Amino acid sequence: MPQRILCIVGARPNYMKMAPIIRAINQHAALLEPVLLHTGQHYDEAMNDQLFRGLQLPKPDFNLNVGSGTHAAQTAEVMRRFEPVLDEVAPACVVVVGDVNSTLACALVAAKKLVKVAHVESGLRSYDRGMPEEINRVLTDQISDVLYTTERSAQANLVKEGIDPSRIQFVGNVMIDSLRANLPHAVAPAQTLTLHAGSPDIAQGATGYAVVTLHRPSNVDDPARLSDLVDTLLRVSRSLPIVWPMHPRTRANVVKFGLDRVLNASTIAVLPPQGYLEMLGLMSKARVVLTDSGGIQEETTALGVACLTLRENTERPITIEEGTNTLVGCERDAILRAVAEVLDNGGKTGRTPEYWDGRAAERIAAHLAQWCGSPAHGDSK
Ligand code: UD1
Repeated sequence: MPQRILCIVGARPNYMKMAPIIRAINQHAALLEPVLLHTGQHYDEAMNDQLFRGLQLPKPDFNLNVGSGTHAAQTAEVMRRFEPVLDEVAPACVVVVGDVNSTLACALVAAKKLVKVAHVESGLRSYDRGMPEEINRVLTDQISDVLYTTERSAQANLVKEGIDPSRIQFVGNVMIDSLRANLPHAVAPAQTLTLHAGSPDIAQGATGYAVVTLHRPSNVDDPARLSDLVDTLLRVSRSLPIVWPMHPRTRANVVKFGLDRVLNASTIAVLPPQGYLEMLGLMSKARVVLTDSGGIQEETTALGVACLTLRENTERPITIEEGTNTLVGCERDAILRAVAEVLDNGGKTGRTPEYWDGRAAERIAAHLAQWCGSPAHGDSK
């Protein structure tokens, strides 16, 4: 009998990480059987279903339907609803990815029930405890049995926190597995933009266009900060057309802070959250991407597109050291200078980091097969 591997997703950035892992586990069908559980942290058609379709993720075997809430309420609700499913499935291992609330909640339940936990994308650190994700990362790593890392600096971070190196496996970046597999199927930007009134005619413009994404609470929950960022983007849009697929958290705050009137009167094309293939198409042809996302810093490095990160820190230093990413912060003048530099000189170039080769999920599945693939290993920790 193959051993069950319970794979957890909860929010948008989890889906592109889990899709290649499930495919790779299926390559070991004699030893392993993937079971997919969705916590329901993200639930909209735009944030969820269209990404499942684009990534060809199977329909989840379980959905906990937790929805939105405060951090405490959301984390607690995932834990409460996950426990009986964990008992029912009785997996050899629970695989969690990334750093969202669902990642920590499911890892915590499994660890306390002495079910093995494997954490994919371990050891990334911004050293900024103001980010909810940083707390989720540190705690999930502490209670995981196997820690799969995307870059070598992650191992040093983990060892500093007292984690035994024998638990750490450097496997590479599963997000880049998805990118490489799907890039040939990316939707052309012109096709995506014709669906949205007011979008720049990118075929006409010689300058190209910028893609913007913002959703970090530190950038979008504070009225002064968000208003300042919108004002800066309005200035950028005078020299470079902007396409801004807007996260629901940001959209709600734009309306709440009365910034929707300013944006509606501008040439910035505000789009709803995009599907995976649409987003890949938009980013791959962009002149520059301005973002506060973690995953997009990695995707732009893999695509060789200049990325300006509108944060004070990053948990993904390799995208700066080797890739196309520049940490710009959120000050208006710094952002305008960085955009001007891209327009004048073409933006930062870089190389693809080690093991971002499209085969990270294969390495994870091979390790899981050897670690959990026999009943003797699956019975206990
Ligand atoms: C979460 C993750 C963040 C990740 C981001 C990607 C945590 C702590 N944060 O942040 O790390 O980068 O997802 O999107 O886990 N909403 C909808 N539809 C949805 C989901 C959410 O409208 O399908 C709205 C709700 O108003 C909700 C708000 O967005 O209150 C925020 O959603 P939530 O899941 O709490 O956090 P994100 O900001 O999406």
